[in-house]
Amino acid sequence: MSTQNRPIRKAVIPVAGLGTRFLPVTRAVPKILLPVLNVPVIEYAVREVVNSGITDIAIVMSRGMESVASYFGEQPELVRTLEERGRAELAALQREISSLANITTLYQDNPKGLGHAVLMARDFVGDEPFAVLLPDDVIWSDTPSTKQLIDVRSAHGGSVIAALEVPDEVVSQKGIIDGDEVADRVVSVRGLVEKPALEDAPSNLSIIGRYVLDPAVFEYLSGEHAGAGGEIQLTDAIEATLGAVPVHACRFKGHHVDTGNPGGMLQAALYEAGRDPALRKLVNEAISAWE
Ligand code: G1P
Repeated sequence: MSTQNRPIRKAVIPVAGLGTRFLPVTRAVPKILLPVLNVPVIEYAVREVVNSGITDIAIVMSRGMESVASYFGEQPELVRTLEERGRAELAALQREISSLANITTLYQDNPKGLGHAVLMARDFVGDEPFAVLLPDDVIWSDTPSTKQLIDVRSAHGGSVIAALEVPDEVVSQKGIIDGDEVADRVVSVRGLVEKPALEDAPSNLSIIGRYVLDPAVFEYLSGEHAGAGGEIQLTDAIEATLGAVPVHACRFKGHHVDTGNPGGMLQAALYEAGRDPALRKLVNEAISAWE
């Protein structure tokens, strides 16, 4: 049965991993709870999903990351204390965080790659089209980037991946897209290759961590084929559906930062600071201390 007209109700957010690039802090705190200023990266992803009309989220995590689930849980004592102290607005914000979406947590016990993490959500997803967000990729935009992908799917069907042109030195760290522009910001995908050497790459158009996928990807994922780096790759699973499922890439509108390393986290914090006059002033003062 075609999944073309079915709404996107579910999202999968994989967060498992050791967070080695953020050691030592990730000895004690899951990477995904590290904040851009005071908001954890995972909250950006959850809010984007919710603002894209999605109601059900599965966070795929490693054991020991339960604090990610409690972050979105109710905190009645905190809320009560804030209210008693006359901080009604802050209390309301805490209530909102615990009622954003129906959040389920799933475990990925073996770190076998992104495709494997998504496979862990197969029962959660069922036979519906669904979104995947890699929360390290933070995107600021008027229309949430996931919603932009959903809109491309409404127009063209099938699966949709977010895309961005990247410099040569980044190509070998990303999934790379081969295809032709068929509409404004929409590329019809002919092929995908995960982390190619620069000389083998078909383009500089990179997959960014937003996907709206036809459930057909699970057929390939369940075969647990090892791809680039010996890992089960989501990119390979999407490629395997080509021919049976139309795949498009969406050059989304928005500002993207890869917060998966401390430098990127700093860039994200500065971007947020630039949107707030008081923080912008502080940043300028801090930078002038470099002189
Ligand atoms: C993953 C995907 C890759 C994509 C990237 C986007 O790689 O496998 O295709 O380009 O996310 O951030 P990772 O960064 O997990 O190695």
